[in-house]
Amino acid sequence: EIAVDLALIESRIRDVPDFPHEGILFKDITPLLAHREAFAAAVDGMSAPFRAEGVDHVVGLEARGFIFGAPIAMALGAGFVPARKAGKLPAKTIDRSYDLEYGTATVEIHADAIAPGARVLIVDDVLATGGTGRAAVELVRKAGGTVVGFSVLMELAALRGREMLPDVEPHILLSV
Ligand code: PRP
Repeated sequence: EIAVDLALIESRIRDVPDFPHEGILFKDITPLLAHREAFAAAVDGMSAPFRAEGVDHVVGLEARGFIFGAPIAMALGAGFVPARKAGKLPAKTIDRSYDLEYGTATVEIHADAIAPGARVLIVDDVLATGGTGRAAVELVRKAGGTVVGFSVLMELAALRGREMLPDVEPHILLSV
């Protein structure tokens, strides 16, 4: 176990009231990203439990999951696979749709990105309702990959997103 400076990480997450809508308190990670020690601590903390897991690919969820996913892939000696919103990837894709409060959303990966049996760590910044994380887990399994974990910077605990994840215990640095 490495010691991660959670207080430093937390101190660099900014609360922005009424964004993107009135009544929503937005958790802004851009001050954390801009701070070298805080960003490094977050990447260390999010990757540490998976160092001995033989991770082949990190799947990062658009868009903020890319920012953490790429350095975590480097730290683990893994490749990086972007899971994108519908219509962004150029080659043949596989997809998974999920429900939002109003309507649905879709995540896609390239059909050939994950070899059967590849060991995959899914990465995102925030676990909120869990809809995105659940879709990502299902998508990786549909591609034939083995999900070895789901690593997120923070959970919005009141939304109970953990309960949405199918047979994956998420690794979460901060619960807010
Ligand atoms: C946010 C966040 C997660 C997702 C979590 O992404 O980065 O991916 O929502 O929410 P959930 O647990 O309720 O599914 P967003 O859709 O805002 O995309 P962005 O990173 O491109 O802004």
